[in-house]
Amino acid sequence: MTGIKTVSKTERDAATNRVTVGLGKRAYDILIGPGLLGRAGELIVERFGRRKLVIVTDQNVDAHHGAALQQSLDTSGLAISKITLAPGEATKSFDALEQVVDFALGAGSERSDLLVAFGGGVIGDLAGFGAAIALRGVEFVQIPTSLLAQVDSSVGGKTGINTPRGKNLVGAFHQPGLVIADTGTLETLPERELRAGYAEIIKYGLIGDSGFFSWLEANGPALLAGDRAARIHAIRTACEAKADYVARDEREHGVRALLNLGHTFGHVLEAATQYDGRLNHGEAVAIGMVLAAQLSADLGMCSDEVPERIKAHLEIAQLPTQIGDIPGQLPGAGKLIGLMQQDKKVRDGKLNFIMLGDIGSAFVTNAIPDDQLHSFMTAKCSQT
Ligand code: GLY
Repeated sequence: MTGIKTVSKTERDAATNRVTVGLGKRAYDILIGPGLLGRAGELIVERFGRRKLVIVTDQNVDAHHGAALQQSLDTSGLAISKITLAPGEATKSFDALEQVVDFALGAGSERSDLLVAFGGGVIGDLAGFGAAIALRGVEFVQIPTSLLAQVDSSVGGKTGINTPRGKNLVGAFHQPGLVIADTGTLETLPERELRAGYAEIIKYGLIGDSGFFSWLEANGPALLAGDRAARIHAIRTACEAKADYVARDEREHGVRALLNLGHTFGHVLEAATQYDGRLNHGEAVAIGMVLAAQLSADLGMCSDEVPERIKAHLEIAQLPTQIGDIPGQLPGAGKLIGLMQQDKKVRDGKLNFIMLGDIGSAFVTNAIPDDQLHSFMTAKCSQT
C-alpha cells in the first residue's frame, strides 16, 4: 500500500458541477471544478468522439496552462494544431480573425474538426467567431481560463470582434458544444482580472437574484481572497442563471437583454479608452452598473439605496465605480452619447437601457428622455 488514494471516475464526476444549457438538440454542458484541464482530453472524447483539434490560445494562457492541456489531449490520443496569439483586447480584431481562420484552413481542417477556444473572453469570442465562419461553421469547445469567461462570455454563443466603431459590432451567434471551466486556472489569474470577472458575477444578483447579491455581500471578499468553495458556488450560480436566460431567449429578442446591465455605459467607456488597457471589460461593466442604477434612481425607478448599495459592494471588491476613476482624459458627455448611438442596443433609433427597479429586479426601457440622459452624463463626466 502506498497510502495514495486513487480517485475513481465516478468520484471525479460527482465532484464536477454540471450545468446544462437547454437548447434542444444543441444543448450542451458547462463543467465546473478544479483539475478539469487534466481531464479535458477524456471529456472531449466522451462528448465528441475522437476529432482533430485546432487550439486557439494566447501567450499568457499557453505559458501557464498549455502544458497541462497538451498532456491531457496527448493521453487521450488527440491530434492537435495550435495557434498562440498576443494577449489583450486588441486581439479581438479582423486581423487576428484572419490569422485564426487561415491557420485552421492551413492545418487542413475539415468540418468534422473541433476548434478549441483556450483562454479568456478575448480568445473565446475570437475563436468562437472563427469557428462560426471557417468552412461555414465547425463545432467548438470553450475552455475558459478567466473568471469573466467562466461566468459569462464562454456561455451562450455570442462570438465576435471589435472594430474602431465599437465593441463586438461584428460577430455571430454560434454555440459551443461543451464548456470546460477549470477553476484551478483562477489561481494564476492576475488580481485585476479576477476582480473584473467578479463584476460580471455581481450582475447576476442585480438583474434577477437579490438573495445571491446578499450572499456576495457576505462572501465576496473571501471569494476574491481565494476561497475555492465560494468561487465554485458563485461560478455555478452565475452559469445556472446565464444558461436559463440563454435557453429562454438565445438570440436576445427579450429577456437575455437583461444580461447587458451596465453594458450600454460600459461599452462606450471601453471604446472611449480605445482599449488601451486603462479599463478592462469587467471594470467598465462595474462603472456601467453603478451608472445604470444611479440613472434609475434619478428617474424615480428605484430608491437611492439601490445605487448606494451596489457602489459600496463594488468598492469593497476594489472595482472602479465612476467615470472619474478611469485614468487619463476621456471625451465629454456628448461624444460618449454619440458612441452609445452606435451600439447594438439601438432599436428603431432609440437607445435601449437596462434599468433597475430594485436589487434583483432589472427591466429594459427605451424611454429615457434625451435631455435627461445628456444632463445625467454631463454630471457624471465631471465627477471625480
Ligand atoms: N454577455 C451577455 C450575453 O451573453 O448575453
